[in-house]
Amino acid sequence: MTATDAVRYEVENGIVTLTIDDPNQSANTMNETYRASMEAAVNRLADEIARDGDAIKGVVIASAKKTFFAGGDLKLMTQATPADAQTLFDNVESIKATLRRLETIGKPVVAAINGAALGGGLEIALACHHRIAAEGRYEIGLPEVTLGLLPGGGGVTRTTRMFGIQDALMNVLLQGQRNKPEKALKIGLIDEIVPADELLSSARAWVEANAGNEEAATQPWDRPGHKIPGGTPSNPKLAAFLPSFPANLKKQLKGAPYIAPRHIMSAVVEGAQVDFDTASRIESRYLVNLLIGQQFKNMTQAFFFDLGAINAGGSRPVGIAERKAEKLAILGAGMMGAGIAYEAARAGIEVVLKDVSVEAAEKGKSYSDNLLSKQVERGRLTAEKKDQILARIQPTADYADLAGCDFVVEAVFESVELKHSVFAELEPIVNGDALLGSNTSTLPITTLAEGVQRPEDFIGIHFFSPVDKMQLVEIIVGEKTSDEALARAIDFTKQIRKIPIVVNDSRGFFTSRVFGTLVMEGVEMLAEGVDPVTIERAAQLAGFPGQPLAMSDEVSLTLQQKIEGEARKAAAAEGKELPVTPASEVVNKLVELGRPGKAAGAGFYEYPEGGKKFLWPELWNLFVKDDVDVPLEDIKERLTFIMAIETVRCFEEGVIRQVADANIGSIFGIGFPPVHGGALQYVNGYESVTGEIGVKAFAERAQELAEKYGERFTPPALLLEKAEKGEKFA
Ligand code: NAI
Repeated sequence: MTATDAVRYEVENGIVTLTIDDPNQSANTMNETYRASMEAAVNRLADEIARDGDAIKGVVIASAKKTFFAGGDLKLMTQATPADAQTLFDNVESIKATLRRLETIGKPVVAAINGAALGGGLEIALACHHRIAAEGRYEIGLPEVTLGLLPGGGGVTRTTRMFGIQDALMNVLLQGQRNKPEKALKIGLIDEIVPADELLSSARAWVEANAGNEEAATQPWDRPGHKIPGGTPSNPKLAAFLPSFPANLKKQLKGAPYIAPRHIMSAVVEGAQVDFDTASRIESRYLVNLLIGQQFKNMTQAFFFDLGAINAGGSRPVGIAERKAEKLAILGAGMMGAGIAYEAARAGIEVVLKDVSVEAAEKGKSYSDNLLSKQVERGRLTAEKKDQILARIQPTADYADLAGCDFVVEAVFESVELKHSVFAELEPIVNGDALLGSNTSTLPITTLAEGVQRPEDFIGIHFFSPVDKMQLVEIIVGEKTSDEALARAIDFTKQIRKIPIVVNDSRGFFTSRVFGTLVMEGVEMLAEGVDPVTIERAAQLAGFPGQPLAMSDEVSLTLQQKIEGEARKAAAAEGKELPVTPASEVVNKLVELGRPGKAAGAGFYEYPEGGKKFLWPELWNLFVKDDVDVPLEDIKERLTFIMAIETVRCFEEGVIRQVADANIGSIFGIGFPPVHGGALQYVNGYESVTGEIGVKAFAERAQELAEKYGERFTPPALLLEKAEKGEKFA
């Protein structure tokens, strides 16, 4: 093996073991070193079989790394441009040709999966005749779709032939499921699970047992008469419901502009109608088409690089030792406090859940009981485990029970006075160095910190509702918050398996501030006379999981009035007067008419009991004008632009410190379309109608929207500066 070899070739007892072990990286990836090394190894294997076929019983593919194989080299892949299309195609085809040669070499080949086999890793294993995985808590699957890609290393073609069109799409390809080995076995992605220390011996034993067995040395699809399970599109039964596939997919995606799932579906269906090698080429073409496009780059930026950066430390101050929470005091056992208690207890933290009465605290604990009981019912948790988790939550109404707590999260009603009084009561009781966190959604952290003895230990830890479903936590640093406190808050967030982003204290923090612009832009369009159905639909088509008027009802219109009132007060204190916008007039009007939102059962929508919500018909009489004609593209882009521009302002003002936090916060906290890779990546990767890509194209379009729809779209100075210099938000 030379320094450029990534595949070790060893023969023992007639069994060839190819061990993938990239000398230059901690994980194996599908780079040029791998491509060339695997090709050389398979060439050598073919030569040796040609020389003396009987001397070789079969092949084991193994890995010397912690993971089996990490898939494609994403850093490299995201640099692809349309000019690279042919080179990329040739490269992909070359990697695949080697695996195809191995698969048809006439000897049984087994994959010994020792750790994570995702994407390209699983695709190598799928080219083997048998797959044995080691016991362990790692993942197996083809998650390409979640990065805007398709499994173009043979994954589409082979899974279609293994499982049939429908099951391949649903169980493996379209949602990119990452499966634990047990689940992968159930689906049929692997054939066996063995104890980790028996992996290689089991793989060799399988080869030994199948030496000379021709059937074991061929893939099902290479045997005569193989049929794709469930049939091909020419089968009348499948042909009858095949046309409904695209419609179903469209329904699933709710019109959001994801390209990868559509390409995956086309590759599966087209590939099912032709021979293996043609199908494989079709798959490569679709892959390359995604690789050279912007969507893959956007999604990979957010879901691989940004998430990775946050997991690796992100905005955590360096040089501070990790410190976990041991005993957590939660003040307020309402909706948020109960949810936080559940997550903390599940992560093994002792929780004291305090409310004004024992009944209220018990009620908060029963929330965990309900969630856990459902999991027991579904067989996802043992009753014993449930009891262990519940036993960690101690409900109380007595401050004395907070003794020994090293971490506090306050979640009482949203009032400065109340929060000050609660902290004054608890501070002398909890540990002298306990972290003091507040889950406030609107109150300035610096103001709240004025009520405690140790403002340096005070910090905002803003969860989202429902706590058990929402992965994001927004950590808010006040004027006096120390680096140690910030590091501890981040450590705690990770301890309970959430994703932390860090923002500096300011009105609405980051998420609520940017979210507010989205909701108000939707209302603004209604004020202009745009049909509300069009507004809501445009949001879906733009890729938003939620719709502005529906979300406005969710947060309640009275809360929006309150937030606006406070912004008005703050502006007045600086001698400025905020104009009353047409949008705020619409909000006022609805509240006046007794329609403050979902909680009240009436807002922009009607909420019939037991039925589905629908837009309030009177909206058409009150607001819609027949002669307004705002182009659909403008409606969609007004929603994404207003959020992206506000995010740039947050960045400019130092509210948000890192691009990764902005991208992840905007997707996970406020539903910015994932397909754009987050609010700042959207700016970086914006593609104009004329095909220009980048910040300059974004700034020009923002200016255009400003001229048409109002100053709020005017590009901020930082945006213009980046556009001028040809820089990105990085
Ligand atoms: P909630 O009304 O459901 O619960 C508040 C709880 O605090 C009640 O159970 C109440 O009895 C208790 N409480 C009041 N005074 C207390 C005291 N002196 N000691 C102990 N407990 C006391 O409210 P929710 O929705 O859970 O909100 C709590 C906090 O979380 C607020 O600051 C809110 O702004 C914030 N928040 C709320 C979100 C939401 O979506 N509801 C999202 C993010 C933050």
